[in-house]
Amino acid sequence: MSKLKCTIVGATGYTGGELLRILSFHPHAEVTQITSRSRMGEYAHAAHPNLRGVSALQFIRPEDAQPCDVVFLCLPHGEASAQIERWAGLAERIIDLSADFRLRNLAAYKRWYGHDHPAPHWVERFVYGLPELTREQLKGARYASGVGCNATATNLALLPLVKAGLIDWSLPIVADVKVGSSEGGAESSPASHHPERSGAVRSYAPAGHRHTAEVEQMIVQVRQANQVDVDNLTNFTHLHMSVTSIEMVRGVLATVHVFLKQPVQEKALWKAFRDGYKNEPFVRLVKSSAGIFRAPEPKILAGSNWADVGFALSEDGRKATLLCAIDNLMKGAAGSAVQCLNVMMGWDERAGLEFPGLHP
Ligand SMILES: NC(=O)c1ccc[n+]([C@@H]2O[C@H](COP(=O)([O-])OP(=O)(O)OC[C@H]3O[C@@H](n4cnc5c(N)ncnc54)[C@H](OP(=O)(O)O)[C@@H]3O)[C@@H](O)[C@H]2O)c1
Repeated sequence: MSKLKCTIVGATGYTGGELLRILSFHPHAEVTQITSRSRMGEYAHAAHPNLRGVSALQFIRPEDAQPCDVVFLCLPHGEASAQIERWAGLAERIIDLSADFRLRNLAAYKRWYGHDHPAPHWVERFVYGLPELTREQLKGARYASGVGCNATATNLALLPLVKAGLIDWSLPIVADVKVGSSEGGAESSPASHHPERSGAVRSYAPAGHRHTAEVEQMIVQVRQANQVDVDNLTNFTHLHMSVTSIEMVRGVLATVHVFLKQPVQEKALWKAFRDGYKNEPFVRLVKSSAGIFRAPEPKILAGSNWADVGFALSEDGRKATLLCAIDNLMKGAAGSAVQCLNVMMGWDERAGLEFPGLHP
């Protein structure tokens, strides 16, 4: 059977390079076109040296891309929606890794991105691309959005307790998210200059990070779908997210503090996490009483599509600290995008995503 032909638009970037790496070993899909405005004619390995001898593709201009089966858009915010008709004319399926089509609510988009959505009629055609949340809608879908990496770590930490109805919604939820430098993309800036970035512990967004909107969207959707605490749903305004850049190239660690409706024992949290993730191919529960890897740790997830989740409970049983570690370029971007493609196409969800990460 011939493989599905994929085009990566914005392929010199970090998420584009990661997609090319994964899809080079995918059993049912292959990349046939990679685009760049700045490196036209150069080989893929000029931008992604790890792919020397793996991909023989050369970059073409975005406007020269020919029809194919799937287009992956790995563009800066606003670029996918600006030309969505053109990309939809090229391929039956689109997976857009940017934030352009993640939010279902146009008012929320305007609030968080500061302007009206440029292609509002396209918004409802896209399914939010986190299979742990939207697997059923993704099956057979033509258009999937990407996910925010900080939102994904926060969402996967919170999801089991939201579903289980354990959270006290009258009190704040605080998400403290630590991130690596590759979140900023391949383009350099004064903030990424090595003497400035190396060793930094930089409060990148102490309040008001845009990914808050994706977590709020998840909470409302899951409470509605599971009919959990629906009476006070509209009162939900208590999520505070802080993002801090730390000394790491790949990786996100979300530490999310929640108050529980009533005191619980640890076994209630074990049950919520096991029930929530028992059938998930890429979510692992990490909670050991000994050793240095007792809790989720992004370092060992680099290059893998795992999301490692864990938790701790306060002595009074009223406060839970929820943890999730991912690789921002994998489960937080390209890995989730390929997982979405697998679900959309009805393939084994793990196809192309078996790499387990490295240790040490
Ligand atoms: N980095 C992460 O951890 C991460 C995680 C989740 C989601 N995302 C999202 O994924 C998207 C891509 O992120 P990234 O980190 O891969 O960015 P990046 O490294 O900066 O790459 C952006 C790519 O887009 C191309 N490009 C820029 N403007 C373009 C335009 N107007 N038309 C066509 N091509 C254009 C660039 O190449 P040329 O200039 O050569 O054309 C480059 O290949 C972003 O929307 C980001 O928010 C990123």
